[in-house]
Amino acid sequence: MTPIQKVIYKKDRKIKPVWFMRQAGRYLPEFRKIRKINTNFIDLCLNKKKVKEITLQPLKRFNLDAAIIFSDILMVPYGLDQEINFKKNYGPILGELKLQNIHKISYKDFTNKLNPVYESLKITKKDNLLKNKDLIGFVGGPWTILVYMLNKKSPKKELNKLIKDKKLTKELLEIIADFLCVHIKNQVKSGASVIQIFDSWAGLVKKRDLERNIYNPTKKVVKFIRSLKIPSICFPRNIDNYKEFTDETKPDVINIDYKIDPIKIIKDIKIPVQGGIDPQILLTNRKNIKMEAQRYLDIFKNHPYIFNLGHGVLPQTNPDMVEYLTNLVKNVK
Ligand code: CP3
Repeated sequence: MTPIQKVIYKKDRKIKPVWFMRQAGRYLPEFRKIRKINTNFIDLCLNKKKVKEITLQPLKRFNLDAAIIFSDILMVPYGLDQEINFKKNYGPILGELKLQNIHKISYKDFTNKLNPVYESLKITKKDNLLKNKDLIGFVGGPWTILVYMLNKKSPKKELNKLIKDKKLTKELLEIIADFLCVHIKNQVKSGASVIQIFDSWAGLVKKRDLERNIYNPTKKVVKFIRSLKIPSICFPRNIDNYKEFTDETKPDVINIDYKIDPIKIIKDIKIPVQGGIDPQILLTNRKNIKMEAQRYLDIFKNHPYIFNLGHGVLPQTNPDMVEYLTNLVKNVK
């Protein structure tokens, strides 16, 4: 069993596995060096040798318990033939959504197009650095993928009005959830030991729409992951009611964001928890980092917990601080 699987299946409260969202990324000079030469981000995600190298970069530096495959949640719209570009200092820009086209795409076409992602997982999994460690596969939540496909960029204040079209969103959410399951199955077959669902824009959904936009489609994906005998970690970022979310969708682990009080979480939620620490803390100093890490470790002392942040490592983070935090967690008695 991997460290994360022990926390989930054995409810092991003694070990606190540690990994960080966006642990491979722009805060690492060795990543920036590769990124500078590889100007097309999607092509980089399809380059299996480079994907393996980038995935393992943080494990070469830090004593982490898990690697997360270097990829992106937008590989699914790409697999559905929607154009994706990443503009510097702006984020993703998607092309027109062609629903007629999507109807013609078979699971086999989709799998072939994303095959380099699966090949990357296979070769990464074999590396000695991952011995007795987790290799995390991931997808975006159905709602977050829908937002990108219709809004065609990260939503700022206003969502595209298409997202209010109930008939269209229902149809698309079903199609998206089905392809997310295909993507998950392919990742598990290629060596992923856990699947995380990043629902980054869950916080935009109004209470009355939670059931149809978040709970129902997520439930389906979580159930599918369970059928593969692999644990699921859900991260419905900025959602108001984490308890209702976990009761409704029943994931194996809930990842919390940094705005939520962890003390309230352990009172309300009985399943294993991941994350919570504000990534900004890594921009301060060792004393603050130590205090905050100790606070989380104390709160989760008797609760199955996977140490992580409440969002990704920020690009301006000093890698030495990530090393310091990792060692703090690994050295607790
Ligand atoms: O280390 C890891 O966590 C694994 C790789 C990973 C990436 N994206 C690589 C990436 C993961 C798990 C993601 C998930 C992802 N992608 C999410 C969910 C998590 C979150 O941040 O809320 C979302 C919403 C996306 C979509 C996306 N991809 C955006 C909005 C952007 C641009 C803004 C940004 O954060 O840089 C990306 C690009 C992206 N994905 C980069 C990386 C390392 C930066 C690429 C670069 O410019 O070098």
